[in-house]
Parts: sequence; structure tokens; C-alpha cells
Amino acid sequence: MQVDKFILTDLLDAAMSADYTRVRRIGSQLAKRFAEENDLDGAKAIQSLLRRRGVPLQVSGYAEALPRDAASRLPLVEEAPWPSTPLLLNRQAGEAINQFLEDAGNIALLAENGVSSRLGLLLFGPPGTGKSLLAGHVAARLQRPFYTARLDSLISSRLGETSKNIRGVFDFIPTRQAVLFLDEMDAIAKLRDDRHELGELKRVVNTVLQGLDSLTDDVIVVGATNHPHLLDSAIWRRFPYKIELQLPDEDVRASMWRSFLFRDAEGDNGPARLLARVADGLSGADIENLALAARRRALISGRELSLGHIVLSVADSKAGNPRLPDARELTSDDRRRLALLLDGAGGLSQAEIARVAGVSRQTIHRYRKEAADG
Ligand SMILES: Nc1ncnc2c1ncn2[C@@H]1O[C@H](COP(=O)(O)OP(=O)(O)OP(=O)(O)O)[C@@H](O)[C@H]1O
Ligand SMILES: [Mg+2]
Repeated sequence: MQVDKFILTDLLDAAMSADYTRVRRIGSQLAKRFAEENDLDGAKAIQSLLRRRGVPLQVSGYAEALPRDAASRLPLVEEAPWPSTPLLLNRQAGEAINQFLEDAGNIALLAENGVSSRLGLLLFGPPGTGKSLLAGHVAARLQRPFYTARLDSLISSRLGETSKNIRGVFDFIPTRQAVLFLDEMDAIAKLRDDRHELGELKRVVNTVLQGLDSLTDDVIVVGATNHPHLLDSAIWRRFPYKIELQLPDEDVRASMWRSFLFRDAEGDNGPARLLARVADGLSGADIENLALAARRRALISGRELSLGHIVLSVADSKAGNPRLPDARELTSDDRRRLALLLDGAGGLSQAEIARVAGVSRQTIHRYRKEAADG
């Protein structure tokens, strides 16, 4: 088909002005012309481009409608894509989330029988345990668009602007069958500091309560906080479902290593088990960071990192502060530390320790003896 230069210029102009509503309109016209000229494949290709799901809000044509902060002009709420990485949870949290999803999926039945509940879910727990990820998974499992607003970014230093921002988010949402994710809920409590006028905290809390109460039943609200004790009790009560995400237990840590490092859920359990044991106290985000760093080093240096390298870096990592592995040769001090560490971890045979640390069994005996002698 001949595309005349007016359409092309118009299309470019719309794209350069980030006017995606116009881009879409021109796209539809193009598809129509393709179809009229019997190029059905061409028409279909354009239509499916226009219809593509999961595009972020800014590029999907809704951008003009987004509520924005008056001073910064930043959007107060954003549409995020559904997560593409798996969620790995301790048994208790996994069961709780399944129950929530079951209730959300059967809301009509529950309402008919008078046993429905407001679909408010509060997630709390230490950083990096998957709260934000879980919120995205809720949206994906229920096949709903996922809108996120961070309470800390709604807080403005200009008096009255914070409440206005919060209202802007809640006014925007009821128009869509959505999951609204309110992240960093505890940010509200930080208004208690002296920069703010005394009545403002109360006003802001009230605005959040009114917003939550104003939502229709088909909007699902997921809130998240690292500091549940800072939440106002009235806000706390607005979330009938509460799930605490704790640091992963040993089984979940092993699954994380399998998934993030070995990318093989069925593979050899040994190395993942070993790493899981050493990674006690680390979060899912820490383990993912370590695993990805190890894969990066392997890729760039052109050789796989040994299990010993990774074990050492895990042992040196603290929650929220992983020490990323490197590809340098292990020194004899490293090997000694590694052998003693694995020996202390328990559950490993001498032969396994010798293999991972790269020393003989006699050497392990010697390390032990030296360690015992101080
Ligand atoms: N339970 C988990 N299962 C799978 N991946 C996880 C898990 N926890 C953390 N991760 C990984 O770490 C990343 C960061 O986690 P996420 O942002 O969801 O944590 P969070 O609890 O929201 O942390 P914060 O309190 O700092 O906001 C996730 O995107 C995911 O890749
Ligand atoms: Mg988070």
C-alpha cells in the first residue's frame, strides 16, 4: 500500500508530541486502509500492535488522564506491568494469599450469600521479602490492571497538597476494574515530624480513610509497609486481609537459588540446599542480587563461578547488604575459611566439603585442629 506523506508526517508529529491517543487514531486509520486494499495481514499486524496489552500507562494513551502532583507534574499513580518473575513464599504466606485470591475470585458468590468482605489486603514485613512483587502477582492472577501509588511520593511539602494528591489517586481508580497498590503506607506516619503543620497528619489520615471507603467493591486495594506498628489503627482496620511476609525459610531459600542462580527448578538439589543453609537471614531480594551478580561475573569472565566463590560471598552478606561475588582465584585463606564454614554448617560429608573448598580431606583435618588449638 502507498502511504502518503501526510499520514507519515501526522504520525511522526503525534509520536514526537507523545500524543498516543493520536498515534492510536492514525494507526486505526492505517489499519482500515490496509484492509480496504485487501492487505489483511498488514491490517491485522497494526491492529494487534494497537491492542497490545500490558503497555505502561504513559504509552497506552491514558497519560493525559493521570492525576499529577501540582508542583512536580509527576504522575501520582502509574500502571505497572504484571511481574514476570516467580513469587516464592513460605508455606503460611502462600496459603494466606491463595485464600485471598479465592475470595477475590468468588466475590459475587460471597456477596449473594451475605458473607463478602472488603477486598483490602495489607502486606507487611522486612524489606526485600516480596511485598511489591506479591501485589503485582495478585493483579496478574486476577487478570486486572495494576496501578501503583507510593504514599511517600504523594507527600508534598506544600500545605494541603498531600491530601489533594491522595484524593487524586482515589478519584482516578474507581473508573477501572483494577488492583490499586498503595506502597510505603508508613510514609503517612512520617508526617508527624515538625516540618508539617499539626493538623495535617490527621487530615491526611482522614483523606486516606475516606478514599478507602469511597472505593467500589470491585476495586482491590493492596497496601504494603515495612513498619506496620506506625500505621494508624483506623487504616489498619480497613484491610480485612493481612499477610506478614517473613524472611524466606530454608526450603524457600533453596527454591530461590534454584530459580535465580541455576534457573532450573528440577535440577540437582545439592548446591541449592547448601547455599540455602548458608543464606540464613537473607531476604529474597538479597538472594536474587547475589545470584544475578554471580551469573554476571560468570558471563563476563567466561567461566562459571565455583560454588565455593558463591558460598563465601553469601557468608559475608548481611540482610539488605549483600557482598557480591567476584571471579578472582580463591586464596588459601579463602579455602580455609570456606572449609571451616561448611564444616560448621553441618549436614555435609568430609568429601563434599573437600570438593567445594578445593582442598584434601587431610587439609580439612589440619584446619580443624588449628582452629581448635586457636
Ligand atoms: N518471596 C520472593 N519470591 C521471589 N522473589 C523475591 C521474593 N522476595 C524478593 N524477591 C525478589 O526481590 C525483588 C525485590 O522484592 P520486593 O520489591 O517485592 O520486596 P519488598 O518486600 O516490596 O521490599 P521493600 O520493603 O523494600 O519495598 C523482587 O522483585 C524479586 O525479584
Ligand atoms: Mg516494596
